[in-house]
Amino acid sequence: MLKMLPLLFLALLTLAPAWAAEPTRRTLPPGPQKSPSMAEAERALALAEGGDAASGKAAYEVCSACHLPSGFGRRDGGYPMLAGQHSTVLIKQIADIRAHVRENPGMHSFVMELRDPRDIANVAAYIESLCIPPGNGRYFLPDADARIAEGKLIYEKDCADCHQAKGQGSKEKVFSVLAGQHYRYLLRQMADIRDGYRQNVDPDMVDSLKKHKNDKLESVAAYLAALETPGTPCPPAKPRQ
Ligand code: HEC
Ligand code: HEC
Repeated sequence: MLKMLPLLFLALLTLAPAWAAEPTRRTLPPGPQKSPSMAEAERALALAEGGDAASGKAAYEVCSACHLPSGFGRRDGGYPMLAGQHSTVLIKQIADIRAHVRENPGMHSFVMELRDPRDIANVAAYIESLCIPPGNGRYFLPDADARIAEGKLIYEKDCADCHQAKGQGSKEKVFSVLAGQHYRYLLRQMADIRDGYRQNVDPDMVDSLKKHKNDKLESVAAYLAALETPGTPCPPAKPRQ
């Protein structure tokens, strides 16, 4: 292995100019046509449908492979918790992802299985009807208390105007619920939104995130993950699926 080191070094040197010229941390996948107007039209149609939770259950099955039947997602933040999220926010994300306005290559084909705006509205209504599973992923290092306290101050100053005092967001204004989401998912989204990798978001939010380096965002995420997701908690006896 040690003998390989000079080789490795050479390889890095050759790669370095290309790497240095690359202004972004990673590039968005090329190819698929982004269509903000399609996303907007589909969102409006789905919102007008209202949505029926019972009819959305069958359509959710394909989603549960990743987000789990309970909507818990994964504690490591690989898949977000969907339970507790406002249907209006879910609808916007689904429409954005379908139209490649929010890139999510792993999920795209699944979300394309929803046939029409009514299906989208129904699946969102079903997700909104789920109880809140306990035990989300949190920040657990020894400085958690200090982080949470710092995060609270930043959140109240820069984020609470839109996401509301307890991270409950707003169904009417389409502000996401942030309270009780998995720590790692929150952190990834904040950095992605700040750095332009997640698009079609409120430019005022991008500005408020740009004020903060990763270290501060860690504190905000630690604070939000420690809050309780609004909604009906799942009965304690029910094992998480
Ligand atoms: C193959 C795994 C997978 C499947 C299947 C899947 N998703 Fe996802 N979903 C993800 C991942 C990963 C993310 C987070 C993407 C990111 O980090 O930007 C996500 C994000 C989302 C979001 C955004 C959440 C938020 O808080 O903004 C919604 C809404 C969503 N999925 C709904 C669905 C629905 C509805 C289905 C079924 C039709 C589905 N997903 C199927 C992996 C999946
Ligand atoms: C001007 C209003 C506004 C402000 C201020 C704002 N946000 Fe947001 N935020 C939104 C909206 C709207 C969304 C929904 C994203 C979309 O439109 O697709 C969102 C989404 C998010 C998400 C993604 C949630 C998910 O489930 O994927 C995170 C994380 C987030 N905001 C964190 C923050 C933080 C942290 C701050 C403060 C530094 C902040 N926001 C300030 C409006 C705002």
